[in-house]
Amino acid sequence: MKLTRRNFLESSLAATVVLCAVPPAGAATGRAYNLELRPGTAQLVEDPSVLTNIWGFDGKVPGPILRARQGQPLSIAVTNRLAQPTSVHWHGLRIANAMDGVPGLTQEPIAPGEAFTYRFIPPDAGTYWYHPHQRAWEQVARGLYGALIVEEDSAPDVDHDMLVIADDWYLGDDGAIDEKSFGNLHDWSHAGRMGNILTLNGKPYEHLEVSAGDRIRLRLIGTTNARVLQLAIPDLRPWIVAHDGHPVTPYLASSDGVELSPGQRTDLIVDVRGKPGDKIPIVELSAGDKLVAGYIVIGKGAPKARRTKATPDALAANPVAKPAAVADQTVNLTMTGGAMRFLASAQFKGEQLDGRTLALDHGQAWAFNGVSGMPASPLFTARRGETINLKMRNDTLWQHNIHLHGHHFVELSRHAPGDDGARTVTTDRADAFQDTILMQSDEQSEISFVADNPGKWMIHCHMLEHQASGMATWFEVT
Ligand code: C2O
Ligand code: CU
Repeated sequence: MKLTRRNFLESSLAATVVLCAVPPAGAATGRAYNLELRPGTAQLVEDPSVLTNIWGFDGKVPGPILRARQGQPLSIAVTNRLAQPTSVHWHGLRIANAMDGVPGLTQEPIAPGEAFTYRFIPPDAGTYWYHPHQRAWEQVARGLYGALIVEEDSAPDVDHDMLVIADDWYLGDDGAIDEKSFGNLHDWSHAGRMGNILTLNGKPYEHLEVSAGDRIRLRLIGTTNARVLQLAIPDLRPWIVAHDGHPVTPYLASSDGVELSPGQRTDLIVDVRGKPGDKIPIVELSAGDKLVAGYIVIGKGAPKARRTKATPDALAANPVAKPAAVADQTVNLTMTGGAMRFLASAQFKGEQLDGRTLALDHGQAWAFNGVSGMPASPLFTARRGETINLKMRNDTLWQHNIHLHGHHFVELSRHAPGDDGARTVTTDRADAFQDTILMQSDEQSEISFVADNPGKWMIHCHMLEHQASGMATWFEVT
């Protein structure tokens, strides 16, 4: 390719930006980034002549990768160049409440043209992500998200550390985002707004370049609004080493792949087997058949010798407090509403309203404990350090994906309709911390966590249309 003046300018400009954005690791002041939320374009479909208008951090999807060191300060100056207010939430990070990015609870929205600087110290290493928490159902769907990686003090022994950010997009035949479906009450009261195009790292077919024999770390991040993805690499045998940022004892992923609900992350370590020139498909299985989403491409380099140690070591645990065996408080969270079991009535902004008024006048279709939308008073108040057990019941016909802010929990038990009482969970997540949990229709789940981060924290369904149409509440730690 010919180096034109214009390309040269662009690439030297990009290099400058990177240099000032990422001071060397360990700089005493921590790392500092600048991000602009603004419109941009992206090639989301195969035809390179079709560009989609998106909104992105720095105009790109995904936004820049932010890297932090565990326990080291990070500052991110955010400027809103959109035509609507916004905020940025650092999904999964147990940080100071004032930096959590929830308009109406922890900060004022950032108005168009205004800026806000987020400053925090990430306590946990692992894979996290950032996205707006204002009209998230629209802003995230238009492409506003990016990865935030908190580096371990001692990194695992891998040849590449790679991101796989998976998203679905609802595009029209012209490749433009389908805008008339935003706010569609039918989607809101069903499974949410689903896309018809799948991208990995914002590309129609991502190619991850490696060498034969490499051991790679893949950080999977699910940024769909509502679709629960199922990603697999059928030709390789990945180990799962972390969920939602937190290490688990490495175990082999099943051939069904990895379930990734909106907001969840899973870290894989995988040995690349094959020969130079091979293209190893990454597939999505949730629709029943294999949809090729991207490839791991083996480059020409000489194959590396296999690691002598077959199974990777577990990553170092994060400093999350273990919940006490006996909870200080047990709180119920019952989900109701949605299509086919519509709310007869619920409380909304302090008023008891019938289901029809809730839906038609307020766009509300779901409730937590009989309340639609954010209540004026918290679901519960905890004294700092208390162990809270949350008994969740999904009394709807739909999946929900419950996310807790500022805290990570373990799942104590789960039972489906027909089971007698709760049984102990036998999944590999039983003693693993997580911040987002998928529940099936009519399931019950009891989760437990130490409320040790003072402030006001949201609990909501991370199917973003469900969050907007009722499934949101909060708790306070004093
Ligand atoms: Cu990923 Cu309340 O958010
Ligand atoms: Cu939901």
